[in-house]
Amino acid sequence: MPRAFAVRDADAVERMDDPGCDPVRLARTYARFGLVNAVVAAPRATYRRWIAPRLRSGDVRLLDIGTGGGDFPRAVLRWARGSAGRVDALAVDPDPRAFAFASRGARARGLRIRQMDTAAVLATGERFDVVVSNHVLHHLSDGEAVQLLDESARLLRPGGVAVHRDIARSRAAHAAFAVGTLPFQPFLLRDTFIREDGLASIRRSRTAAELSAIVPDGWRVRRGWPARVEAVLGG
Ligand SMILES: C[S@@+](CC[C@H](N)C(=O)[O-])C[C@H]1O[C@@H](n2cnc3c(N)ncnc32)[C@H](O)[C@@H]1O
Repeated sequence: MPRAFAVRDADAVERMDDPGCDPVRLARTYARFGLVNAVVAAPRATYRRWIAPRLRSGDVRLLDIGTGGGDFPRAVLRWARGSAGRVDALAVDPDPRAFAFASRGARARGLRIRQMDTAAVLATGERFDVVVSNHVLHHLSDGEAVQLLDESARLLRPGGVAVHRDIARSRAAHAAFAVGTLPFQPFLLRDTFIREDGLASIRRSRTAAELSAIVPDGWRVRRGWPARVEAVLGG
């Protein structure tokens, strides 16, 4: 990998992580997560692989950690309509601004949104069949990421699966995101942090090898397309 991307840039700053950032731009950013994820994060593939098979034989308790605007659990509830089993989803985010934004969205039967971190969820005693996160690991230091993985392992019911999905850092991913978002910056992405935070995210994110080096025993790391990586336990 070329030098500039050979090392994770843990100091790259995302505007959304600044508690003092413009709240209007932040809300517009949350509002665009669903659209951006549909292009870069293949959320439906995650549903098909890890959730839909379980719904054929029963109900699924889903935990989405760092839910942001709550798009993923809402989409899962839509996709699961007509399945044999029902989804009961808990969507958590420790950031009060994300919690407030997600709570303003459409109410959905089977969805609870809470301002909590994983330690707080553990303390409730509730356990889950599927624990997921998307684009959370790169926000965390290695120590914090390992703690999140450890806590999500403890949040699983017997037979459950945890899947933490993120960007895989590469120069190509950075270039593709820079070029791909440029035409949309004047309208769809106007007054959001999507482009600048997305580019910082890619610099902050881990390669599959770097993620493999920190995951606790029992976890495996899978590569995906485009520029995706996921840490999986169970399943
Ligand atoms: C880039 S957003 C992704 C939101 C959502 N998962 C999505 O894909 O649209 C990252 C989210 O992770 C949350 N977050 C940051 N640190 C976290 C932590 N230690 N535990 C759980 N969530 C965290 C942030 O508040 C933010 O909402």
